[in-house]
Amino acid sequence: MNCIKISGPNILHGEVDVQGSKNAALPILAAAVLIPDISVVHNCPKIADIYHMISILEQIGCKVRWEGTSLVIDAKEIGDSRLPKEYVKAMRCSVVFMGAMLARRGEITLYYPGGCIIGKRPIDLHKKALGLLGAVFEEAADCIHAKTDGLTGSTIRMDFPSVGATQNAILAAVTAQGRTLIEGGAREPEVTELVRFLNCAGAKIVLGKKGQYEIEGVRQLHAVEFTVVSDRIVAGTYLLAGVASRGHILLHRAPVWHLGSVVEVLKKLGAKVTASGDCIELDAGGGICPIPYLETAVYPGFPTDLQSPLLAALSLAEGVSCVRERIFENRFAVAEQLRRMGADIQISKDTAVVCGVKYLVGNEVAAGELRGGAALVIAGLCARCETMITGCRYIDRGYEDICRDLQCLGGNMELMT
Ligand code: EPZ
Repeated sequence: MNCIKISGPNILHGEVDVQGSKNAALPILAAAVLIPDISVVHNCPKIADIYHMISILEQIGCKVRWEGTSLVIDAKEIGDSRLPKEYVKAMRCSVVFMGAMLARRGEITLYYPGGCIIGKRPIDLHKKALGLLGAVFEEAADCIHAKTDGLTGSTIRMDFPSVGATQNAILAAVTAQGRTLIEGGAREPEVTELVRFLNCAGAKIVLGKKGQYEIEGVRQLHAVEFTVVSDRIVAGTYLLAGVASRGHILLHRAPVWHLGSVVEVLKKLGAKVTASGDCIELDAGGGICPIPYLETAVYPGFPTDLQSPLLAALSLAEGVSCVRERIFENRFAVAEQLRRMGADIQISKDTAVVCGVKYLVGNEVAAGELRGGAALVIAGLCARCETMITGCRYIDRGYEDICRDLQCLGGNMELMT
């Protein structure tokens, strides 16, 4: 079994490139199904979820090949509308095939999607939005069949700005008959990037204020070439590792414009942060300031995906911090593992109270999900002695090569196979 061995403590120092965004690339790959031609998607991260997505595309009839870090997808012919269980259950994003396949084939059968165990993660909002556009559903114990006689534009008011449900609604609406208005949709960059991709392929989507999307259905999309934005969560993870280790790091190809709330938090933690073009420099030579109160929020708020890495950094702050998780109800599981390294974290319902300690001590710990795993890496880098992290397959779902990247920043760590 793979594990990451880290010898600490480390003060991170150096430069690294940020990989392409997982959560932007995944729905864009599903969107390629809508294009009866060739899509070339540059800057795709080589991570497990992308490989799963490719397997799904191939199963439904697409021809997919890598050219360096670009994916070339030929979706001229789509055959099977049943998605393979193995890959659908391996990740959450498989659910956005619903909108794309309803639009392209008029039907889809898929198992309930999997993904990180961070909450219940129902798909009621997806079904409601697609239902308004003309989809009907038949559900069995572990699988769902959706079909339509033809999608028609509609007004969709989202009860909550779900990222996936907004993406599904957009995918179903771009080639629907007539006009669709989505109100209260998600504004995360991973949604607006999907819009940018679809518009490059000939869609007519206008992004309004406050999560409003106006979509004029077009008859057909055309071939497209597109570059995926850099990953804001990977960038944020490395910046928080820089703070926790009191280091000085420079990220290249960073999505600076998507990191507003993260930079604000890094500054509150006491770091000096400067951005220029697509580079971001962090100098965290002093102590780590506690954060009296912070809550995760939908974009442009502080992202839930960085809550666990933040907990790791706050474990070493000079005082007491309080973090409230507002998006996923079960995203504090990593606290137990951090405690095994000496962190003082108490969880009460949706809130974590973190009393900073002077140092963490390496231990054997287990990643149970993606971002929690990244938090353990941060803690291991800062801890005295040796840390062994198992459950690397979770970390691989989102980080192309976390050991390679953090070694570039001076981290004394390696992947043990
Ligand atoms: C996306 O998940 C991301 N995943 C998540 O990243 C991210 O944490 C999340 O958005 C929030 O930013 C991908 O893009 C593949 P949601 P998604 O629908 O689309 C509830 C990572 O670490 N909800 O906005 O599943 C849901 O239970 C991952 O990379 C419903 O109640 O997020 C949650 O509490 C993890 N009914 C909240 O909304 C629904 O039908 C937000 O979920 C849909 C969602």
